[in-house]
Amino acid sequence: MIILVGSTKGGAGKSTAVTNIATVLAHQGKEILLFDADRQPTSSEWETERRLNQPGQPKITCIQRYGDIDSTIMELSEKYANIIIDVAGRDSDEFRSALLVADVVLVPIRPSQADLNAAHNTTRLITQARRINPKINAYGFLNQAPTNIKGKEIELARAFILDYPELKLLSTNIYDRKVYRDALSEGLGVIEMIGKSDSENNAKIEILALVEEAGL
Ligand SMILES: Nc1ncnc2c1ncn2[C@@H]1O[C@H](COP(=O)(O)OP(=O)(O)O)[C@@H](O)[C@H]1O
Ligand SMILES: [Mg+2]
Repeated sequence: MIILVGSTKGGAGKSTAVTNIATVLAHQGKEILLFDADRQPTSSEWETERRLNQPGQPKITCIQRYGDIDSTIMELSEKYANIIIDVAGRDSDEFRSALLVADVVLVPIRPSQADLNAAHNTTRLITQARRINPKINAYGFLNQAPTNIKGKEIELARAFILDYPELKLLSTNIYDRKVYRDALSEGLGVIEMIGKSDSENNAKIEILALVEEAGL
């Protein structure tokens, strides 16, 4: 399966999703290639940290390629059953070309007005790509959702995203949790963290739920 995590918005949580989904699939015994197509190589740096300092965890192969990457992805898909692609947070050649060959695109969206507005550009690129790649499944999910249950931000953001029929909105929300930041800098996925607090354990539950719900 060719999985793309994409959005034209920077800081939305693409690299966080890529590294965590890759980790879940690796623990399921699936062979996975992490394809980093962002010149600000957050997920490659994560993999380097993992290779050097987390020797006990399953290895995740990582490559970096830029520009029009569709034919490279197709060649690599003959060797790797699962490829997960990280792209830059803007309208890029990498994002557009990966959309032409991906089976699934996942779009993380934070519940801020700027991020919600940016979803418009992302969905436009997905709609254009569908003319050539009609099989692509496009899912949106809420990232960095506030854990404060009093506010209405989650409800309002979900209602806003539902207005984009091009994106299937996953019922799984990913919440704003420190463990996502810690895991990213330590070369781990949240499922590999010790899990002392409720928040850490809930991060594991929600990332597993996201992988299952998106059929990855
Ligand atoms: N659910 C989350 N909870 C807490 N911090 C998060 C979460 N998702 C992302 N972050 C943090 O936000 C920053 C941007 O996330 P990142 O995945 O690098 O975004 P992108 O790849 O879309 O630019 C990083 O420091 C990351 O650790
Ligand atoms: Mg990134």
